Amino acid sequence: MEIILDVTDLHIEFHDHDLPETAVEDFDLMLGKGEIVGIVGESGSGKSMSALAIAGLLSRHQIKKTGRIMFDGNDLLTCDRKTLRQYQGDEISIIFQEPMTSLNPVKRIGWQVEEPLLIHHPEIKKAERKARAIEMLRSVGLDKAEDIYYMYPHELSGGMRQRVMIAAAMIGNPQILIADEPTTALDVTVQAQIVDLLKKINKERGTSIIFISHDLSLVSQLCERVIVMQKGRIVETGKTSVVFTRPMDTYTKKLIAAIPKIDLG
Ligand SMILES: Nc1ncnc2c1ncn2[C@@H]1O[C@H](COP(=O)(O)OP(=O)(O)O)[C@@H](O)[C@H]1O
Ligand SMILES: [Mg+2]
Repeated sequence: MEIILDVTDLHIEFHDHDLPETAVEDFDLMLGKGEIVGIVGESGSGKSMSALAIAGLLSRHQIKKTGRIMFDGNDLLTCDRKTLRQYQGDEISIIFQEPMTSLNPVKRIGWQVEEPLLIHHPEIKKAERKARAIEMLRSVGLDKAEDIYYMYPHELSGGMRQRVMIAAAMIGNPQILIADEPTTALDVTVQAQIVDLLKKINKERGTSIIFISHDLSLVSQLCERVIVMQKGRIVETGKTSVVFTRPMDTYTKKLIAAIPKIDLG
């Protein structure tokens, strides 16, 4: 499998208090083209910080990072800003738990979906941009895409808003989509629909996906491989079916045991 992202020895440290606080230590991740990798672990285990570092969204000043995040021949931790910006939201996209906070409440849905195109491909004409946005809205399962294009975020349900976020994240056809707890705020039926949508995107476009969740059942449905994190470190990694049925690590065993009724088939 072709490796498109190679993270080694990632270390993330905050310096906004007297003592530096380590958020992530010795994090490694090799992501293959078209692969879906899950990251699980309790709250505060460093999942989001690792994701934000890969997406190039951690401040270069207040947050000290060492290690390497190799993508397209560049180290995202040290490459120049212009190179980094060129990847952000175009080659590497990220979606978050609460789409309402990621969407701009006073802008129409069409604007939100087109924004990454405006930034990265200003040469694309207005009519073409609109056509692409509507096509993208349709492909994430939003019927009446022409109407939704003119709506505002508050007019949509949580599930629809998350689909809009996915449309905005996918419009540049990124090589990597990072989904940080994308279903946590949604009800169970909608969670399953979003997971199906991510599967579809992966299958049809070959997008590699990093899926962060504390829902082990969703991870086992979507991800072939999983990384288990605890207190900023990877404690276990391997094939999802193996890790979830025959965990080696005590912490992974606890995580699995903590779930009352789990379908990890
Ligand atoms: N601004 C910050 N300053 C200091 N520490 C932080 C800051 N933001 C997050 N952290 C710490 O980083 C660690 C990892 O957080 P995070 O990656 O958000 O965890 P997760 O996504 O797994 O819940 C936590 O211990 C958290 O306390
Ligand atoms: Mg998080």
